[in-house]
Amino acid sequence: MNNPDNNNDRSKTRLAIFASGTGSNTQKIIDYFRNDDNINISLIVCNKRGAGVLQIAERENIPSIVIEKGKFFTDGYVPILQEMKIDWIILAGFLWKVPVSLIQAFPNRIVNIHPALLPKYGGKGMYGHFVHEAVLAAGEKESGITIHYVDEHFDHGETIFQAKCRVDSNDTPDSLAQKIHTLEHRYYPATIRELITTKK
Ligand code: GRF
Repeated sequence: MNNPDNNNDRSKTRLAIFASGTGSNTQKIIDYFRNDDNINISLIVCNKRGAGVLQIAERENIPSIVIEKGKFFTDGYVPILQEMKIDWIILAGFLWKVPVSLIQAFPNRIVNIHPALLPKYGGKGMYGHFVHEAVLAAGEKESGITIHYVDEHFDHGETIFQAKCRVDSNDTPDSLAQKIHTLEHRYYPATIRELITTKK
């Protein structure tokens, strides 16, 4: 583990962020809760060596682990997460399916963000540019974000929050991705806080 946990304050609600990409949402969540009295970003979990999100963990001095597929789909890393007293799991660009072992250990405590208005444009293989390309190809007039609970199916659990943006006729996958990222950054951290505060 990098940056071993030196935060002994167990009175706060402890979040683990699972991410495998550049981590722009992860950075926004860290910034949002940096001085929070009740919520602490306690662990970054990543499945890709060299991913940008690991540099964020390093810079922010947050413990991080790079997970292996075999172990993840066996014990879901549940023992480590429990040992670290993780309360909630926040997915922010994590592409592996979450195993049942993990879902059962954190019932209604795993949240994902998807860059489209589910139930449309979700499911296996629907991530990143594939989502935006499909939205444009279908001639949709709007797209957006969905924050939802995670169950054993891809992009399927109960919706917690959605926000929309317009799709313009000159939008490209890149320009649409930008609009979506703006929505994600604006709403994901605040929705997480709202959820945790009301569920406690
Ligand atoms: C986000 O667009 C999110 O909707 C999806 O993965 C992307 C992660 O982006 N699940 P970033 O790494 O946080 O920039």
